[in-house]
Amino acid sequence: MIVITTPTGDIGARVLDHVLDAGRDVRIVVRNVSSLPDGLRKRVEVVEGSHADRDVIEPALSGAQSVFWLPPGSPSSPSAKAAYVEFSRAFCDVLPPSTVTHVVGISALGRGWTEPAGHVTASLRMDDMIGGTGINYCALTCASLMDNILRQAESIREAGVFYQPTPGDLKLPHVAKSDVAAAAARLLLAPDWQGVAELPLYGPEDLSFEEMAATMSDVLGRPIRFEEMSMAQLEEMAKAIGASEGMARSMVLMFTAKNDGMDTMTRPVARDDTPTTFRQWCEAELRPAIAV
Ligand SMILES: NC(=O)c1ccc[n+]([C@@H]2O[C@H](COP(=O)([O-])OP(=O)(O)OC[C@H]3O[C@@H](n4cnc5c(N)ncnc54)[C@H](OP(=O)(O)O)[C@@H]3O)[C@@H](O)[C@H]2O)c1
Repeated sequence: MIVITTPTGDIGARVLDHVLDAGRDVRIVVRNVSSLPDGLRKRVEVVEGSHADRDVIEPALSGAQSVFWLPPGSPSSPSAKAAYVEFSRAFCDVLPPSTVTHVVGISALGRGWTEPAGHVTASLRMDDMIGGTGINYCALTCASLMDNILRQAESIREAGVFYQPTPGDLKLPHVAKSDVAAAAARLLLAPDWQGVAELPLYGPEDLSFEEMAATMSDVLGRPIRFEEMSMAQLEEMAKAIGASEGMARSMVLMFTAKNDGMDTMTRPVARDDTPTTFRQWCEAELRPAIAV
């Protein structure tokens, strides 16, 4: 039995599809059962509630062998520590006496960065806490997700522009959520690995936002412009769309660390486990989203 958290989320739903396609028994943990497609409810066991709650996650682990763990990083949490570490505490309390032997978690690139890096620092602390339970744990430490650009679909569609608090010519790694989900599923379906490890997921190449704008223009067939915003603008914008003070500040710390070299301080040994190029991502995900 494989337990999947966030089956309604972008990454979790794709992990679920892979695991069901492989014919495995699945139990999902979901806050609102009625949000699930009818066909899906017949194919999985369902535990209703938040995976942060002990009363939910403890029975959800019963008899299971492995778990896909994704901390949602809710913007309304008071802090990144609350959103990642505290969110995962009950899970870590109930793991050791459970039947679970393997956990695959979603985390962030940045191990070894010594400055505070907001969401990333908290994600890595969560990894340490899960790894400290003695379980076999693989943290998928993701670079920035290409899919973040979809949050600006309206601005791209209406005004042909997207923003980031990053110099336009700074090359950084970007990975597609589809590749992250595929990597998680591979580890869940073949739990022949042991110990505590990180699997960094970089995507196939480093790209600047100006290069990404050029590819977006090409794929969408119209000019798309990148504009750098300030960290103060990012913080205000995050709060305007519902982030707490603590989470907005944490985003600033994270993007500052990325601009200062956190995501490029360690070079990938191999990148072929995350093959989706930004152009392929634009064709598969951005173009349909902009056409809506
Ligand atoms: N963005 C980046 O560049 C980046 C980089 C590295 C790592 N990450 C990590 O990637 C993850 C985001 O994954 P995603 O894109 O798949 O997320 P997503 O599409 O936003 O989905 C969030 C999921 O979490 C559930 N959820 C939200 N709040 C919850 C709560 N309080 N209790 C229980 N469930 C809750 C949602 O369920 P409902 O249907 O109930 O709302 C949904 O299934 C985060 O861990 C983030 O830190 C992101």
